[in-house]
Amino acid sequence: MELPVELVEALDRACAGVPQRQLATSVDRLISRYRDPRPAAAPILASTADVTAYAAYRMPATWAAVHSALERFAEQAPGFRPETLLDVGGGTGAALWAASELFPSLAEATVLDQVDEALLLGRKLAADATSAAVRSAVWRRTSFAAQEAFGGADLVTISYVLSELSEADQADLVARAAEGAEVVAVIEPGTPDGHRRILSARDVLIEAGLTVVAPCPHQQMCPLAAGTDWCHFSTRINRTSLHRRLKGGELGHEDEKFSYVIASRTAHAPAAGRILRHPLKRKGLVTLEVCTADDGVRQTLVSKRQGESYREARDAEWGDTWPPSRRSAD
Ligand SMILES: C[S@@+](CC[C@H](N)C(=O)[O-])C[C@H]1O[C@@H](n2cnc3c(N)ncnc32)[C@H](O)[C@@H]1O
Repeated sequence: MELPVELVEALDRACAGVPQRQLATSVDRLISRYRDPRPAAAPILASTADVTAYAAYRMPATWAAVHSALERFAEQAPGFRPETLLDVGGGTGAALWAASELFPSLAEATVLDQVDEALLLGRKLAADATSAAVRSAVWRRTSFAAQEAFGGADLVTISYVLSELSEADQADLVARAAEGAEVVAVIEPGTPDGHRRILSARDVLIEAGLTVVAPCPHQQMCPLAAGTDWCHFSTRINRTSLHRRLKGGELGHEDEKFSYVIASRTAHAPAAGRILRHPLKRKGLVTLEVCTADDGVRQTLVSKRQGESYREARDAEWGDTWPPSRRSAD
């Protein structure tokens, strides 16, 4: 995946305004803080250098994760044309950029966050966006602790936010975000803890009357909930030269692992199954690990003798539906 070029250029300009040494110090501090599983007692992004560092080293990956998750949802809900977006804990606006690229119908967007510097930078980055919804987004300061009603939107995103809150506050936030929302998307890091938070958010969304559309092919208990495995996906984002400078490393890309749940007030045909691992492709045989509606997680073997199915399995990727939605909808 490639970050929108206007965003890459805006990030370059933003970073040029902050001494490199300060950015590097902030990147190191943020990396170690985001590894700490404890909820945040105070805002983690604490300065202009922090929010600029966050935007440069993390926003491309969170953008890619939100983009991938929303794309999966759109495959199951091809008629979804949101006009309004609410990005809760939106920081510098990763989900706003991702959603506006996937849903050109978006006309109005609001980003809520507690950190003024993040909102300021987000607004600045958005100034030259191609999308009118990104350019005209409203950036509003709020703390979730104020218990303000969010007011709903066609699409509400909560990306990479829950780990900063206590369990009770996570449930409260997701429930409030669901009020008046048509679709709610919650995205977290693809770790066992991230998946656990997603499962709790999924319960809250179902309780609020929404139907899970992606990634799960059903509304029942997650078959991975009780074991040691966890549901997560991966997306590859090309690294910009700025990113390589800040984070080091030789690779030209980064693989972001994420867990997610997207639920809707309108029921959409669920996927028949979801591929939970990189398919194992050997000569004449593809092995898929598939989460299914009726049968939990199942290994599916597709051999060359299965003709069209085999060709589809050769093309299948981790995170895809199985069988492909086109075919299961036939
Ligand atoms: C890791 S950042 C994620 C930003 C963005 N959603 C993304 O995906 O890149 C978490 C954001 O949640 C915001 N946040 C955390 N706790 C909050 C609270 N209690 N009230 C408002 N915003 C909060 C933080 O200020 C931060 O911008």
